[in-house]
Amino acid sequence: MIAVSDRLEHVHSDIRGPLYEEALRMEAGGTNVLKLNTGNPGRFGFKLPNSVRQALALHIDEAVPYCDVRGMADARNVICTYHIGRGLQGIMPGDVFICNGVSEAASMIMDALIGTGDEVLLPSPCYSLWSNNTYLSGGKAVFYRCDPNNNWNPDIDDIKSKVTPRTKALLVINPNNPTGAVYSHETLVEIADIARKNKLVLLADEIYDRLVMDGLRHESLGAIAPDVPCVTFNGLSKSHIICGFRCGWMVFSGPKGELDEVRNGVMKLASMRLCGNALTQLVIPAALVDSESTREMLVPGGRLFEQRKATCEGLDKIDGASYIQNKAAFYLFPALDKNKFDFENAEDFALKFLHESHVLVIPGNGFDWNEDLRFRIVMLPEPAVLSKAMDDLKYFLSKHRR
Ligand SMILES: Cc1ncc(COP(=O)(O)O)c(C=O)c1O
Repeated sequence: MIAVSDRLEHVHSDIRGPLYEEALRMEAGGTNVLKLNTGNPGRFGFKLPNSVRQALALHIDEAVPYCDVRGMADARNVICTYHIGRGLQGIMPGDVFICNGVSEAASMIMDALIGTGDEVLLPSPCYSLWSNNTYLSGGKAVFYRCDPNNNWNPDIDDIKSKVTPRTKALLVINPNNPTGAVYSHETLVEIADIARKNKLVLLADEIYDRLVMDGLRHESLGAIAPDVPCVTFNGLSKSHIICGFRCGWMVFSGPKGELDEVRNGVMKLASMRLCGNALTQLVIPAALVDSESTREMLVPGGRLFEQRKATCEGLDKIDGASYIQNKAAFYLFPALDKNKFDFENAEDFALKFLHESHVLVIPGNGFDWNEDLRFRIVMLPEPAVLSKAMDDLKYFLSKHRR
């Protein structure tokens, strides 16, 4: 047998991992499985906004040739304007790199920024894109704790205690996956301060910034830390239901010149893949001015709002389940009281739930969270489907009480 590269040793993608494979096997055997594993709205009947459809139809011929390795000029201009509107200072279209999703942007930045042995501070729980790219770049993932008892805000003292001379970057996912948290202004200020004092690069994954509910306002980390080197990530996969298009970008901000070498590194990597998918870039100008199609999902009567309500009402009926209601996106990261149920751990729970109730959720360890028994629910199906899934969970748990 040929050995796999050692760089893959710690890489894990549980959202599409062994439990998912098991769900597919069950489906192949004729069992219907409700798959609440991926944040992929188009799979659950969310419709492509007209703004996106029209932009694609109108401009399709412009996507025929390779485009600029950093992305099409019109799209980069609009992205730049968007982030200036969100408070990033001193940025220009040349600071924007359009990529095949935030996923590709994450891979490029980590390859360009993180050398062998460099440490990256990552949140726990963590969306594994970031830990995986840390491992692949030869870096060391160091997890800081987000606190369920403080609305899932990062634990500032924990971050401070984990900074070492090898720490190079600090990642903040806000709004967060898997918790759905939106961080407080005070937390962001303190994070910026840690980066400033320790000369860290801030990485701000803000892909859910347009999916904030309950009248809350999302603040861009780069806007709070204009004097700190920062790379902000965003994209249209979720806000405009185009996960499959692969449309994301990164923006460099902070003191002039500080990130020039890294940016040149990204340029080299971007050149290697010639250009990002040009078709997706055609829709960026129209999508970024179409905030209405996103907004209507988030208010009472809108799908994301009502789906959250249905899920939370279902969970409220379960003794031994608790959760912090998400303020953004469509994820919930509930806990089960270990003392009340007979599961060995979160993985054991999720496998049994899949086998017995035919619902797929991802256990907390898939997000590098091992503190208690948690799992992530993706609240994308219609409210009635989610209500039934929570009833199924209640029934399932009644059979596993100690
Ligand atoms: C926090 C976070 N960052 C990045 C991504 C990747 O998004 P993209 O489709 O732009 O690659 C996701 C996808 O779920 C995500 O949740």
